[in-house]
Amino acid sequence: MTSAEVRQSFLDFFRSKQHEIVPSSSLMPSSPNLLFTNAGMNQFVPYFLGERSAPYKRAADTQKCIRAGGKHNDLEDVGFDTYHHTFFEMLGNWSFGDYFKHEALEWSWELLTQVWGMPHERLYVTVYKPGEGDPASFDQEAWDVWAGIFRREGMDPAVHIKTGGKKDNFWMMGDTGPCGPCSEIHIDLTPDNATEGSLVNAGSPWCIEIWNNVFIQFNAMEDGRFLPLKDKHVDTGMGFERVAGIIATTGGFTTFSNPPSNYNADVFTPIFDKVSAMCGQTYGRTMPEDRNSLSRDEMRDVVFRVLADHIRTLSCAIADGILPGNEGRNYVLRRILRRAVMFGRRLDLKPGFFTQLVEPLVQTLGPVFPELRQQRHIIEKVIHSEESAFDRTLDRGLQE
Ligand code: SER
Repeated sequence: MTSAEVRQSFLDFFRSKQHEIVPSSSLMPSSPNLLFTNAGMNQFVPYFLGERSAPYKRAADTQKCIRAGGKHNDLEDVGFDTYHHTFFEMLGNWSFGDYFKHEALEWSWELLTQVWGMPHERLYVTVYKPGEGDPASFDQEAWDVWAGIFRREGMDPAVHIKTGGKKDNFWMMGDTGPCGPCSEIHIDLTPDNATEGSLVNAGSPWCIEIWNNVFIQFNAMEDGRFLPLKDKHVDTGMGFERVAGIIATTGGFTTFSNPPSNYNADVFTPIFDKVSAMCGQTYGRTMPEDRNSLSRDEMRDVVFRVLADHIRTLSCAIADGILPGNEGRNYVLRRILRRAVMFGRRLDLKPGFFTQLVEPLVQTLGPVFPELRQQRHIIEKVIHSEESAFDRTLDRGLQE
């Protein structure tokens, strides 16, 4: 399955479950306490809080997200691992006071195992179990739904269901706002699948979270209270690049010998091809053994990943009117662009190389996010001017 087919089959699946397919909202967040849109649910906050009534009971989409700066910040990991991005697409389905845990979890299982053919025995889930001082109570309801699913499939719930406290299993967009316990789905991609779930949430690239089902039930207040909401809602988020990468790496779940990587998904290929054409080297799929001492090949591959990620972030943000600058979110963008230029120099890429990555980016994501095509010239102009200014600063610094 290609990346485009993964995205489309997600949307088709939820359309068949009576979900309205809605466009991604802008990366410019509607909430004042966010730097960027960081989750699919951002645009629906007023519906969750009951401030506005939703025009539909169920929705699904692919949402542009940036996680750099602020509460959810993955910038420093980008390039050094294979599954964090500053820009990614979050596939999501929502219930606004309509279906709740039972349907949400059953449909997750149906899509993953029946539509996409993920091997049942490689899936592990987590449910909320509060630690000392954490809000709300143990999510027995989610545990029971999952236990029913695993027993039906002939698997042991005690092995396949893990628990987590507020850090991993209570989702909040920021310090305040709609939130609730969540249940994540992880996939074990180790060659022999003998870990019994011990790698879940252990920071291993061989076992990664692919989908988070959040049960929005509270409004987190500034004074630290969690007020119950009038209605209960579902907010799910699936890492599109993760799923597309897993399907690409495993050849549709037929082989588990290769290290998984989001960057194996074809959504990155045109950008990698362009980098190769400019530097004369090819992406080699290596991973750093030790971040502080990289081999030549490892550094080359880190740079490929950094550039592929960062051009997506810069281009999509600029298309939504967020430009590099001196403060706040604008400064975060400037830092990301500079990080890309600095890494690009490691491959001896010529000044102006970063701007040239806009074209392959628009080629892959333009059909999904039409604003990229509409704004392409502005994106190139802004990146070019920012890149040349930084190149001049770097050259001056080197000379001095
Ligand atoms: N809001 C949750 C997340 O971002 C699920 O969509 O993980």
